[in-house]
Amino acid sequence: MSLPDALTQTGEASLPRHVAIIMDGNGRWAKERGKMRVFGHKAGVKAVRNTVSFAVKLKLEALTVFAFSSENWRRPEGEVNALMELFFTVLGSEIKRLHKNNVRLKIIGDLSRFSDRLRKKIAQAEALTENNSGLQLNVAANYGGRWDITQASRALALKVQQGTLAVDDIDEALLSQHICMSELAPVDLLIRTGGDCRISNFLLWQLAYAELYFTPLLWPDFDDAAFSEAVASFVRRERRFGCTGEQIRELISGQAQSTV
Ligand code: IPE
Ligand code: IPE
Ligand code: MG
Repeated sequence: MSLPDALTQTGEASLPRHVAIIMDGNGRWAKERGKMRVFGHKAGVKAVRNTVSFAVKLKLEALTVFAFSSENWRRPEGEVNALMELFFTVLGSEIKRLHKNNVRLKIIGDLSRFSDRLRKKIAQAEALTENNSGLQLNVAANYGGRWDITQASRALALKVQQGTLAVDDIDEALLSQHICMSELAPVDLLIRTGGDCRISNFLLWQLAYAELYFTPLLWPDFDDAAFSEAVASFVRRERRFGCTGEQIRELISGQAQSTV
């Protein structure tokens, strides 16, 4: 498969290293077809499979997908149960393929609310792929950005209580180390499908300097072309990280000269 010109012309250096996705719109996709919402969730699994393959082709370091938020428990019991069952089944059916592709799987979120059976499945899947060196795939399940910052704060508070950490030593870098995915490259690009322009309590801390990309496409329709378009949009943007545009351009031209 060849990549669109916008990607190949810019070269790998400016591609994102870590992409996060809010996979939204499964329910509407099903409704448009006169089907039950769960039909949309099943179609969404195919889009996840395809997105992971494309991320491997793009040589992304990490892909983080939002599968179930801490607020999604508010949905009707039948839909929540169907989503839990689907998660369990998909973990079992996809893990071999992921392993074969050298993907390392990690589930991020508050796992304590899941059944023992599901937690066991998660542990097995993570253990099988833990030594893989390809794409790091993080699936956010019962995840909330506020939960993440809270659990990091509690970890620091515990150290203070135990006398191993002084309050004066708490800074952004230390709190960062306790937030999920601190060991990975920062999230460069956040994609949300489904047309809504909001974060819905996904990665709050980690998105501080991510580029945000919203598309009206519903998640089951998200394909290689849509992913390429999002990445191409990222490549075209100038990331300034608080500096001026002139500073950034000087920096880039300096880097280009030093590599000639
Ligand atoms: C996203 O699709 C999947 C989950 C939140 C589990 P939705 O189920 O939110 O689909 P819409 O937004 O209702 O169309
Ligand atoms: C965000 O989608 C969560 C996931 C994609 C898992 P939602 O459909 O739950 O978001 P809201 O409720 O529209 O903000
Ligand atoms: Mg939704």
